[in-house]
Amino acid sequence: MANDTSISLTSPLMATYGRFPITLVKGKGSYVWDDQGNQLLDFTSGIATCNLGHVPDVVKEKLEEQLQNLWHCSNLYHIPNQEQLASLLTANTCGDQVFFCNSGAEANEAAIKLARRYSQKIKGTDSFEVVTFKQSFHGRTLATLSATGQEKIQQGFLPLVQGFSYLPFNDMDALDQILTLKPAAVLLELVQGEGGVIPAEPEWVEKLAQICEQNDILLMVDEIQTGMGRTGTLFAYEQYSIEPDVISIAKGLGSGFPIGAIIAKEKAANAFEPGSHGSTFGGNPLATAAGVATVSHIVESNLLKQVKEISAYLDTQLQNLKENFPQIKEIRGKGLLKGLVVDGNAPQIVQKALANQLLLLTAGPDVVRILPPLTASKEEINKFKATMEIVFQSM
Ligand SMILES: Cc1ncc(COP(=O)(O)O)c(C=O)c1O
Repeated sequence: MANDTSISLTSPLMATYGRFPITLVKGKGSYVWDDQGNQLLDFTSGIATCNLGHVPDVVKEKLEEQLQNLWHCSNLYHIPNQEQLASLLTANTCGDQVFFCNSGAEANEAAIKLARRYSQKIKGTDSFEVVTFKQSFHGRTLATLSATGQEKIQQGFLPLVQGFSYLPFNDMDALDQILTLKPAAVLLELVQGEGGVIPAEPEWVEKLAQICEQNDILLMVDEIQTGMGRTGTLFAYEQYSIEPDVISIAKGLGSGFPIGAIIAKEKAANAFEPGSHGSTFGGNPLATAAGVATVSHIVESNLLKQVKEISAYLDTQLQNLKENFPQIKEIRGKGLLKGLVVDGNAPQIVQKALANQLLLLTAGPDVVRILPPLTASKEEINKFKATMEIVFQSM
């Protein structure tokens, strides 16, 4: 989703991002402000991270309180916020135990390590293969880009970490190949985010889960983008008849404060023991303070009900746009993770939206990705729609 790729040779920053030509200095709710004082409607939520909107008071207060007391201590000591957040996560999922880290890639890295260790230590086999899916995205570390089913992410980083096989997504027949791969685990997104906002078909997911259960293959779901209420339930797996063995999460967990985690069922979690995995910053007092405030708010308020209502409203508005603008071929996604499939000019649409003070994302050349905060109002959806009308009329 590059825009300004001409990063100056004198820049002290490595050119890993194609950045838009604006500088954001402030955020509140659904809005951000740039350094020129312009107000922009943010329907990217920092790529599904600021799910409670920018600088939510509930998280800010908890962070301010924690800032007065203790910022960091190592995982050699008990950290109350960490234990509270783990309890909140296990009470609200099918998982039993949690490991904390700092990002999505690290969460998937932990899931992959857990799968290998489960297979070797608990199952007593030396199978280490993890089956993932084409168009998937699981992160940028060497292991997680190897898990990712997109060559463009892997380019230039060969040799890949061994032990990954990629099957076509949503393909019933391809599931027959799983057993021949003798995998330790399967890792999938329930809505492929970066790969084009493609939801997994329920029958396909249920058959996959059945194969995993019958053959003691760990079912691992990457809920880094779909989690924390984004699709209308705390986690997207709740909308399928499955109980994953491992759930990887990050992004919205800290409302913008960096944190990641895996939540695992006891049988899988038991594969880790003291010394098998760790992180200096993982689950530190500040990050887990943000996590406790975020998760408590989502489960204790009526936010998830609100997401269902506001996403239904967004669906209606998107449908109306599609009827009026033939450039829109399809609307995909779940809850407040939506993709507009367009005629190969998604980056241009995102540029034009930016010129009209609306932040959007792409998910490949054909898909405009829309990620409003879960707290978005009808008025903000109306504003988004009015801006999209201006954008499509101009094309
Ligand atoms: C589904 C999924 N998995 C993993 C990641 C990697 O997360 P992070 O950028 O925090 O490492 C992302 C990031 O976009 C993601 O969408």
